[in-house]
Amino acid sequence: MTLEVIVLAAGKGTRMRSALPKVLHELAGRPLLEHVLDTVRALTPTRIHVVCGYGAESVREQLADAEDLNWVEQAQQLGTGHAVRQALPDLEPGSLALVLYGDVPLIRADTLRALLERASGGPALLTAEVKDPSGYGRILRDGAGAVEAIVEDADASETQHDITEINTGFIACPADRLRIWLDEIDDSNRQREYYLTDVVGRAVHAGATVASVSCADPDEIAGVNSQAELAKVERCFQARQAESLMDAGLNLRDPARFDLRGNLHFGEDCVFDINVVVAGDVTLGSQVSVGPNCQIIDSEIGNGVEIRANSVIEGVKIADHCSVGPFARLRPGTVLDAGARVGNFVETKNATLGEDSKANHLAYVGDATVGHRVNIGAGVITCNYDGANKHPTVIGDDAFIGSNSALVAPVTVGKGATVGAGSAVTRDVPEGQLALTRAEQQVRAGWQRPKKEKKN
Ligand code: UD1
Ligand code: CA
Repeated sequence: MTLEVIVLAAGKGTRMRSALPKVLHELAGRPLLEHVLDTVRALTPTRIHVVCGYGAESVREQLADAEDLNWVEQAQQLGTGHAVRQALPDLEPGSLALVLYGDVPLIRADTLRALLERASGGPALLTAEVKDPSGYGRILRDGAGAVEAIVEDADASETQHDITEINTGFIACPADRLRIWLDEIDDSNRQREYYLTDVVGRAVHAGATVASVSCADPDEIAGVNSQAELAKVERCFQARQAESLMDAGLNLRDPARFDLRGNLHFGEDCVFDINVVVAGDVTLGSQVSVGPNCQIIDSEIGNGVEIRANSVIEGVKIADHCSVGPFARLRPGTVLDAGARVGNFVETKNATLGEDSKANHLAYVGDATVGHRVNIGAGVITCNYDGANKHPTVIGDDAFIGSNSALVAPVTVGKGATVGAGSAVTRDVPEGQLALTRAEQQVRAGWQRPKKEKKN
């Protein structure tokens, strides 16, 4: 049987107290909905139908790149049964339908596979035993233990409220039968909604067996209805990721104080101190150490690199054995060749530092090409911006830029040249020469400091 997935994502999520549609709230840097889509894609469905309503346009816009999605609009949210019904005309006859929610992001593909296996003749429900079943639909079983129906919390009797086996919301069912049973349901209930869960009663009535699969891990079925629940799901997702990274050999000083919002690849013996945030696509070689409070985004880092505390690195390529920080900020387009060093309070942007070059303290290096073994002193600024346009600075191999110098771009400092401390360099410096623009020091003999006048 071919598989058709229906993701319900039409709800507003009032309790989020946010203008953003609920399924666009981010988990580990990506919309909730994308996590669900990733998981169902592992089941290789023929198509994924996403039912949206509230904020449909922004949801579609955000996921415009996904070509395997069939967008279904549910203009009015009249219930989960009504939502599924909107997708039915697009389902292939003879297929198996899997219904899940866009705001329940931690479900595992294996759990869904187990559910699908049980759904050949009728609905298969994913259920769970919970301590506090309030708010959930309860599973009603007959004396022999067979599922008879689901009763929603709002409609449950006092004794039914005590049932602790709940409906998680994940349902698989042959599409053709689902169509028949969905046609039979109405909204004669407390909430005046078309309940998808009423399909179960209809199936039993038609003599079909209703299968159930129990989900043991409560995280998998945790939905996001509030900011607090979003935060909980985030911690859970991060814990799962940290676990698998450590399994793969990453040394996390404290897995509870590490966040990955993207993909991290790494070699052997990499160590992360606490409070590191990694985002986008980051690749590390072997023996990379990252100090506390660092942020690393979309970067490639070579072997034996040391990133020291409080450094922010984005869109950067760092070759082997470089050292960065503490308190360094490497902005997009920065390239550090092997053995380069960038120290505290140094900002770089669109700049290449050649092998073994260093900018150890308090510098800004932007739109610059710096050769090998160059020393950039404390307080050096490449003045790359004239208020309208950006200009390049080129510094040759073995040059020495004295402290507190301003290199006014466009400008070239030749190989082996020296810029004396405190210079404002506005013209090219020839190879091997010294450029010095500061005023001569004066010494005034006999000069005396003013004295404080005495007041009577
Ligand atoms: C639903 C189930 C309940 C189950 C619970 C698990 C029904 C009738 N009840 O209840 O048995 O225990 O989930 O969390 O199915 N949605 C739409 N269109 C609609 C209504 C809802 O797309 O018209 C979407 C929502 O965006 C949400 C999901 O369906 O993602 C569930 O809707 P919600 O209203 O939260 O259902 P519950 O009342 O919690
Ligand atoms: Ca819900």
